Amino acid sequence: MAAGFAAALDQTAFILGPAVAAFEAAYAAFIGARHCIGVANGTDALELALRAAGVDADAEVLLPANTFIATALAVLRAGARPVLVDCEPDHHLIDLEQAAARVTKRTRFLLPVHLYGQMAPTETVEALARAHGLTVIEDAAQAQGARRDGRAAGTTGRAAGTSFYPGKNLGAYGDAGAVTTDDDALAARVRALRNYGSEVKYHHPELGFNSRLDTLQAVVLNAKLKRLGGWNEARRAAARRYDDLLADLPAVTRPHTLAGNEHVFHLYVVRVPRRDDVLRRLNADGIGAQIHYPVPIHLQGAFRHLGLGPGSFPVAERAAREILSLPIYPELTAEQQARVVASLRRALG
Ligand SMILES: Cc1ncc(COP(=O)(O)O)c(C=O)c1O
Repeated sequence: MAAGFAAALDQTAFILGPAVAAFEAAYAAFIGARHCIGVANGTDALELALRAAGVDADAEVLLPANTFIATALAVLRAGARPVLVDCEPDHHLIDLEQAAARVTKRTRFLLPVHLYGQMAPTETVEALARAHGLTVIEDAAQAQGARRDGRAAGTTGRAAGTSFYPGKNLGAYGDAGAVTTDDDALAARVRALRNYGSEVKYHHPELGFNSRLDTLQAVVLNAKLKRLGGWNEARRAAARRYDDLLADLPAVTRPHTLAGNEHVFHLYVVRVPRRDDVLRRLNADGIGAQIHYPVPIHLQGAFRHLGLGPGSFPVAERAAREILSLPIYPELTAEQQARVVASLRRALG
């Protein structure tokens, strides 16, 4: 990494320097996409993917209510209408039957989120998209390296947005993100949109943005990408250990992996009774458990204008009351996990 930083400084190549192109090529090869376009963060990646795919103000975009706020913000910022859908009770991914029921004449996009590190069921996503002529844009922010039936997150839709926020499976040392796609024309549009709408310097045929992947972050990502496969394997091993340690705690519902999925366990999310109390006790024991996410999109003040009150998405709302993310990261040891589970056991009484 030090050599990469030194090269960027030597070349004063701070904006779209060689490390950016090198990372884009390496990440595209890692997931098996034709193109990767580095941008400033994952929210921008989703917005630019939607814009490059031709979103317009009338377009309705189906997305889950149980996701990080950025998925919905990207839709709004692209100028389209978010149409929220409940999630499935066992794996918390988008409920595609309900998505089908919410299709209207104006529905143009389907935005599945590969939540917690496993992919939404691609075959059902594709069947729904085919039946209604929808364009699929994947939110792959939590699923770098995840696969379903051999296909990688970020390669199954028309395009995908991903995030390299520091806490992600592949994290930069600051904000960073990327769009991935097999579509040459869409890739070219994202390249222009991220760079003031310009392909030729000082010529701006369309409105664009300043949303480029920082060269120094690309150096970090290039170095870390080489270890991502091993880190994902370590996360899976940690998840298996939690599964075993929690097996005799019937009050705890363990995460459910869909058949066909290779999960990368960005998060290990269980469900517990008296969740807020349990979380407080874990935190008091010095365990960094968290909630992803405590408030579904439709109950966020920022999305009040959708007019969807409590009760609109009962599965997501119940999940928001019961879910608990136990610490997971590649370096987590078996002893640390035993401590987490001992604390959880005490908290549950
Ligand atoms: C599901 C999901 N979508 C989008 C984003 C947005 O990414 P960023 O924070 O890089 O803008 C994140 C992460 O923060 C995320 O978890």
